[in-house]
Amino acid sequence: MDYALVTGASRGIGAALAVALAAEGRNLILSARSGDDLERLRARLLRPGLAIECVTADLSQPAGPGELLDEVGARGWDVDLLVNNAGLGSGGDFGGLRLERELEEVQVNAAAAVALTHGVLAGMRRRRQGAIVQVASTAAFLPVPYMATYAATKAFLLHFSLGLWAELRAEGIHVMALCPGPTETNFFAAAGIRGRRGQSAEQVAALALRGLKARRPIVVCGAGNRAMTAAVRWLPRAAAARTVGWVMRNWHEGRR
Ligand SMILES: NC(=O)c1ccc[n+]([C@@H]2O[C@H](COP(=O)([O-])OP(=O)(O)OC[C@H]3O[C@@H](n4cnc5c(N)ncnc54)[C@H](OP(=O)(O)O)[C@@H]3O)[C@@H](O)[C@H]2O)c1
Repeated sequence: MDYALVTGASRGIGAALAVALAAEGRNLILSARSGDDLERLRARLLRPGLAIECVTADLSQPAGPGELLDEVGARGWDVDLLVNNAGLGSGGDFGGLRLERELEEVQVNAAAAVALTHGVLAGMRRRRQGAIVQVASTAAFLPVPYMATYAATKAFLLHFSLGLWAELRAEGIHVMALCPGPTETNFFAAAGIRGRRGQSAEQVAALALRGLKARRPIVVCGAGNRAMTAAVRWLPRAAAARTVGWVMRNWHEGRR
């Protein structure tokens, strides 16, 4: 049976994507560390004719993606849609941030996404169909001082995603980078930084599914965010870094 595997499905954008996919009748594998939250979502979404499974996994551990893939393989579930959504951030003066947290971002946001993508690809190739969504960010389009590691992981994901999109499109496998701007989830609280008003997770999920249907390589969520990501292409990189640095410094110091 075919499944959509959604990481980071316990809350926020991942949970909203799971709800939207279930509404379309997609079987789901929900993954995150918080097993109770996954089970609650499963109970909410379950209906006759729909298969919904939960697999807990800690993607900050180098073995985490392999353990998740092993469980999926052992149960005989075919993944025809992978959504690499699990992610975390941090904000502040880089030298003052905990190194463990910065490395965790690299592991979860980038390395785990590479491992999971690699792991599902063989099956998709055999079946000559499938789709992979990498949940990047508008932060992928420019250097972001005071969130430097986070933005760099998202730039990695954007380039990784586009590279694979071009590599795999002739094989019937679609790869899409989803780039939300500020979205009202637990993300900012978990990152220890002040939240920002923005789109809802449900709006982002709806745009993601629309983008998937249209087989778009990149979806930037929201007109303002699309204008911003288009505009920064024309700025020299150092000027972009300085400007964003000024905005972020004021934001972190609470002056805005
Ligand atoms: N919110 C925004 O403004 C925004 C903007 C652009 C992009 N994004 C991206 O959107 C994605 C989802 O973020 P969100 O806003 O929905 O944040 P969120 O509400 O904090 O959700 C993050 C999800 O990632 C999971 N996760 C975190 N660390 C994990 C780990 N070590 N192993 C497995 N799962 C882990 C969490 O589950 P557990 O804690 O249960 O493991 C949770 O389900 C992230 O990739 C984020 O970078 C968010």
